Amino acid sequence: MTEHLIIALSKGRILEDTLPLLAAAGIEPVDDPARSRKLVLDTTDPGVKLVVLRATDVPTYVQYGAADLGVSGKDVLMEHGGDDLYEPLDLGIARCRLMVAGFPDAHRRPGTLRVATKFVNITRRYFAEQGRQVETIKLYGSMELAPIAGLADLIVDLVDTGRTLEANGLVPLEHIADISSRMVVNRASMKLKHKPIKAFLEKLEQRLGAA
Ligand code: ATP
Ligand code: PRP
Repeated sequence: MTEHLIIALSKGRILEDTLPLLAAAGIEPVDDPARSRKLVLDTTDPGVKLVVLRATDVPTYVQYGAADLGVSGKDVLMEHGGDDLYEPLDLGIARCRLMVAGFPDAHRRPGTLRVATKFVNITRRYFAEQGRQVETIKLYGSMELAPIAGLADLIVDLVDTGRTLEANGLVPLEHIADISSRMVVNRASMKLKHKPIKAFLEKLEQRLGAA
């Protein structure tokens, strides 16, 4: 295990909101992570390095200890599954809702409904818990197109303003979960690097409390 802390950040929309939080904890990347082609970034804290990953890869890096900590959407964590990560802090950023959506009359179609989503594990769990039989179709993006194109009756997707649904004639139908980004920590790191991790989490907490 390395001496320094490695923090995994999600590329894309979470990154922008994460950097000010890290800065408040005294950690600023030396190179601009949105522009640099480097995969491991030095920071103003010599004891901390950042890796910038696809959002869905963050829990995997933290689970296996390739990163000590990570910032991940609750949706990504729920889809990843398992309780093998500590989740000590809700960062309160990238807030949205995970919803079932479709055309307003979607539920009225007889027979087994087809649900398109990139969250297949969450979707299977959600409908199974309710004893509802559905066919799940895995997509990698643009879920809203699926009902329009006749691929699926319903979608399970993230909703924030609701504008994407509205622009495509769809409506939110069922609420699955409230989503925000979380700080996650590898279990072994939490023990072996307890002191620096605790200090880092405390600084973050102070900043979140002050916000
Ligand atoms: P990838 O490109 O790796 O598939 P992605 O497109 O899901 O990832 P982003 O769109 O950057 O990545 O979303 C990252 C996270 O931001 C999501 O996992 C979710 O937690 C949150 N998020 C996604 N969409 C919204 C939204 N419209 N409003 C607020 N938060 C959102
Ligand atoms: C996310 C999500 C919805 C949209 C919801 O997509 O998948 O499509 O945001 O936001 P709204 O309710 O404010 O319209 P994103 O913009 O990240 O695009 P993506 O399909 O590339 O993930």
